[in-house]
Amino acid sequence: MYSVAVIGLGYTGLPLAREACRAGMRVMGIDDNPSVTASLNSGHSHVPDVTDADLAAMLDAGFRASADENLLAEASVAVICVPTPLDDTGSPDLSHVRCAAGGLGDRLKPGTLVVLESTSFPGTTDDVVRSIVERASGLSAGRDFALAFSPERIDPGNDTFSVRNTPRVVGGYTPRCTAAAAEFFRHLCDQVVEAGSAREAELAKLLENTYRSVNIALVNELAVVAGTLGVDVWNALDCARTKPFGFQAFRPGPGIGGHCIPVDPVYLTHWARASGAPLRLVELSQEVNAAMPAHVVRRAEQLLRQRGKTLGNARVLIVGVTYKRNSTDLRATPAATLVRLLRQAGTDVTYHDPLVDDWAPDGEPVERTADALDAAADADLTILVQDHDAVPFDRLPEYSPLLLDTRGRLRGPHVHQL
Ligand SMILES: NC(=O)c1ccc[n+]([C@@H]2O[C@H](COP(=O)([O-])OP(=O)(O)OC[C@H]3O[C@@H](n4cnc5c(N)ncnc54)[C@H](O)[C@@H]3O)[C@@H](O)[C@H]2O)c1
Repeated sequence: MYSVAVIGLGYTGLPLAREACRAGMRVMGIDDNPSVTASLNSGHSHVPDVTDADLAAMLDAGFRASADENLLAEASVAVICVPTPLDDTGSPDLSHVRCAAGGLGDRLKPGTLVVLESTSFPGTTDDVVRSIVERASGLSAGRDFALAFSPERIDPGNDTFSVRNTPRVVGGYTPRCTAAAAEFFRHLCDQVVEAGSAREAELAKLLENTYRSVNIALVNELAVVAGTLGVDVWNALDCARTKPFGFQAFRPGPGIGGHCIPVDPVYLTHWARASGAPLRLVELSQEVNAAMPAHVVRRAEQLLRQRGKTLGNARVLIVGVTYKRNSTDLRATPAATLVRLLRQAGTDVTYHDPLVDDWAPDGEPVERTADALDAAADADLTILVQDHDAVPFDRLPEYSPLLLDTRGRLRGPHVHQL
């Protein structure tokens, strides 16, 4: 049976570790953040999709979290699930991957299967990870150890699709590496799809999220233009989506957020540009999506002006501040950009979000209001940014004198769209 080390115990690593425990494997978790390992070992999960009860079952099955990379010497499979963010210049930051690969390479024993699961551009597994692990270990990929890429497709908060029933793509440095990785993942996932190479698997992952980014940009741009020309884009979308083939509906919004959609297309465009072949459509979609919070502020300004107000003397309530509906995740939420722009204009901003107790974009707290409807009645303008189930957003039009609905959920005399 496999002895599995999961390196990086966050949104992707912890659910994978849980699935490996469920499959009866011996599982250790390596994370360089001591507060993560301490909290996991004491039975508290910081990942919403892994409950404390799940974690208790993992700990019963022998799972332990540790910062001690020496434990990697005991692993027959090591899966790297560390972050792949952007650096200060907006370029791919592989420092966590390099660091994890180096720590693993120093302790690698022959016969180990090494899998990179962190999202990155084609060549990261074959070139970056391979060279670091080979140099540190003195072993050769494809001969002494197997090396593969297998992207995580987890959708936080999705109750239908999990690690188990989401098809798993694997692509190896060599065909034998692909086969070794496929054999391992067949224990964890109902369906394994073998790519022709690690590069193909890496590109597949970036394609999935870039497809979302590009299509979101299409409807965002359409929403801005249709709004200017007086056509209800939401109704148009509802009509278009009745076509039973050839069309998938994406919804406009106040901007994109989270760890994946704003980041993964940058890995793709960076890779393409570095190869001398820019992906113009993808780059443009990033620009369109990034401009949405500023568009929301412009709309807010127009609406307030019609009421004789300016951004500088208005009270604005933001309803729903996380980047995703029904999620507590605030990472890269467009609501933070919105607040930054409103504050720069001198607006008095408050927020209501039953899923977020404290919120301090750019380190500066925003005042929280517990009752959305009373707060909406008090504010000069309410901006609906996230339509969580727990928000009584459908009653906002009764209370709010002026409402900007960035999600297209509401209609009424005081309700305005993007
Ligand atoms: N969150 C998602 O929904 C999602 C979905 C698909 C793919 N991904 C990809 O999965 C990867 C991981 O993302 P995440 O959301 O799980 O990140 P995360 O921030 O939730 O967790 C990563 C963990 O790795 C740890 N870590 C960082 N460097 C380390 C090192 N050198 N050694 C050991 N531990 C280290 C951090 O302390 C952290 O606990 C990224 O490439 C991301 O793009 C994420």
